[in-house]
Amino acid sequence: MVPWMLLLFYSLLFLQSSPSSFAKCPPSYFPSSIIRPETQSLSSNNALYKTKYYTQILDHFNYDPQSYQTFQQRYLINDTFWGGPKINAPIFIYTGNEGNIEWFAQNTGFMYDIAPEFKALIVFLEHRYYGQSIPYGGDRKKAYKNPKTLGYLSSTQALADYATLIIDLKKNLSAIDSPVIVFGGSYGGMLAAWFRLKYPHVAIGALASSSPILQFENITSQYSFNNIITQDFRSESENCYKVLKGSWKQIEDTAKTKGGLELLRKSFHICKNYISGDSIEGWLATAYVYTAMTDYPTPSNFLSPMPAYPIRQMCKAIDNPSFGNDTFAKLYHAASVYYNYTGDVSCFDINDNSDPHDLGGWQWQACTEMIMPTNGNNEESIFPASTDNYTERAQSCEYFYKVQPRPAWITTEFGGHDIKRVLKRFGSNIIFFNSLRDPWSGGGVLKNISKSIIAIVEKEGAHHVDLRFKTDKDPEWLKNARKKEIGIMKGWISEYNRDLADSNIID
Ligand SMILES: *[C@@H]1O[C@H](CO)[C@@H](O)[C@H](O)[C@H]1NC(C)=O
Ligand SMILES: *[C@@H]1O[C@H](CO)[C@@H](O)[C@H](O)[C@H]1NC(C)=O
Ligand SMILES: *[C@@H]1O[C@H](CO)[C@@H](O)[C@H](O)[C@H]1NC(C)=O
Ligand SMILES: *[C@@H]1O[C@H](CO)[C@@H](O)[C@H](O)[C@H]1NC(C)=O
Ligand SMILES: *[C@@H]1O[C@H](CO)[C@@H](O)[C@H](O)[C@H]1NC(C)=O
Ligand SMILES: *[C@@H]1O[C@H](CO)[C@@H](O)[C@H](O)[C@H]1NC(C)=O
Ligand SMILES: *[C@@H]1O[C@H](CO)[C@@H](O)[C@H](O)[C@H]1NC(C)=O
Repeated sequence: MVPWMLLLFYSLLFLQSSPSSFAKCPPSYFPSSIIRPETQSLSSNNALYKTKYYTQILDHFNYDPQSYQTFQQRYLINDTFWGGPKINAPIFIYTGNEGNIEWFAQNTGFMYDIAPEFKALIVFLEHRYYGQSIPYGGDRKKAYKNPKTLGYLSSTQALADYATLIIDLKKNLSAIDSPVIVFGGSYGGMLAAWFRLKYPHVAIGALASSSPILQFENITSQYSFNNIITQDFRSESENCYKVLKGSWKQIEDTAKTKGGLELLRKSFHICKNYISGDSIEGWLATAYVYTAMTDYPTPSNFLSPMPAYPIRQMCKAIDNPSFGNDTFAKLYHAASVYYNYTGDVSCFDINDNSDPHDLGGWQWQACTEMIMPTNGNNEESIFPASTDNYTERAQSCEYFYKVQPRPAWITTEFGGHDIKRVLKRFGSNIIFFNSLRDPWSGGGVLKNISKSIIAIVEKEGAHHVDLRFKTDKDPEWLKNARKKEIGIMKGWISEYNRDLADSNIID
């Protein structure tokens, strides 16, 4: 059993729990993002949009007057390119995921890049309980206090928020007939796809990028996530894979020896606070997982500042002959690609619990409806063999929140089993984009379902790479994937305009 692997609740975007904390004293302290704040401050970029607030209903599904409480939901809007209601110019909506919406607005350049040719309005909606969209008067402490106050944090409520807001916004803009396309990456992409299925009268189509809507129950193997990471490193070099795979035992053995922890601290330049073998292993694993997710073909700063093709850089460090047989030196240099690419970190704080993108609410979601088994490791895995232990998750959720997860709820509410058969004649106008090197792609829709539910699958790339701002260095396959997406969306809009013209004649 690998303690630090057992209870990592991967948010789609980051590891939720400090692995070390669970190893040492399971349920004693929860969330943590090991992500450091972006070098670029969020506010420096706000020329991209204007910030607005909408008074939102706390509980869409209850007529008890008590539930008519409201909260302020934030949204960001850019109308620079919009053609306006007279020509029914389209509205592009980003269905926000588990974090501060500004972060997504600054990392979803695709919408800005294509808005001019669509004459589109761009809107980013913040997910309830994240960023500034906090119920209970914006009082985070109150909102996150207990299961009673957290109970309104769910994907279903969030989708209802989005529908309510979009309908009201269109009314205010006198743009009732402007077609809406929803966009999202990761959990935001799952929401976009589900939104299209649940609210076809509000959105004419969805671009769901890297959205693992099949990573529930037993639809997707619990081993696929780590298998993909393994393959990412192994395809770089067999030696790189072997060194990483062999390193866990060496770290554990060293940690057990007298002075071993101090040797590890020194080897990895770790700050002078509490460490254990498990916490070091968790820290290293985090770097490999995130690097696999953000192995972009151009330099990036999504989870952490990184060079282009960072896995290649990590494996270069590991394969570097000048480190001889010094495994720790190799690992240190590999981890530095993720943790210290900018070169401004003086020592590594491996217990860093900061959460700069405000992703902490995912813990609750991972304890209630977002049960996405990804922690399995088979014998080939780059990580030690283990199984995804649902019992442990349920126990810690009980301990922290006094809730029991409902692992079958998402497939009950949104489907997922036999998706091709089910959606072939029901749904339409959804693009599922996936990069096969992204660990989340295992739970994605990788096959065309119908003429208009299309899977765009790329062998290269990483987590929602298509949604990033375009750059001069973008590879051809990425340009082509985006071209395909644009063409498909244009088709949706023309079809919509034809239908609209027809219905106006008939009425
Ligand atoms: C919209 O985005 C563009 C950049 O793509 C920017 O130049 C413009 O100022 C933004 N408009 C608003 C209203 O923020
Ligand atoms: C629409 O306008 C009303 C009245 O000004 C305002 O209260 C509401 O917040 C607006 N809706 C949105 C989505 O901004
Ligand atoms: C998944 O499959 C395993 C083994 O067949 C079974 O024990 C488990 O209950 C299944 N879980 C779900 C959520 O269907
Ligand atoms: C590493 O190499 C050194 C010298 O090249 C040797 O003395 C040492 O035993 C080697 N260590 C291992 C673990 O192979
Ligand atoms: C980070 O990189 C800089 C520049 O290479 C180096 O001086 C510093 O020691 C590194 N920090 C750590 C913690 O390794
Ligand atoms: C899962 O965790 C529970 C509780 O710690 C333990 O009893 C059980 O043996 C574990 N199952 C597996 C397959 O590791
Ligand atoms: C799905 O169909 C589109 C064309 O309609 C094609 O471009 C795409 O490659 C297909 N996807 C897969 C996974 O076969």
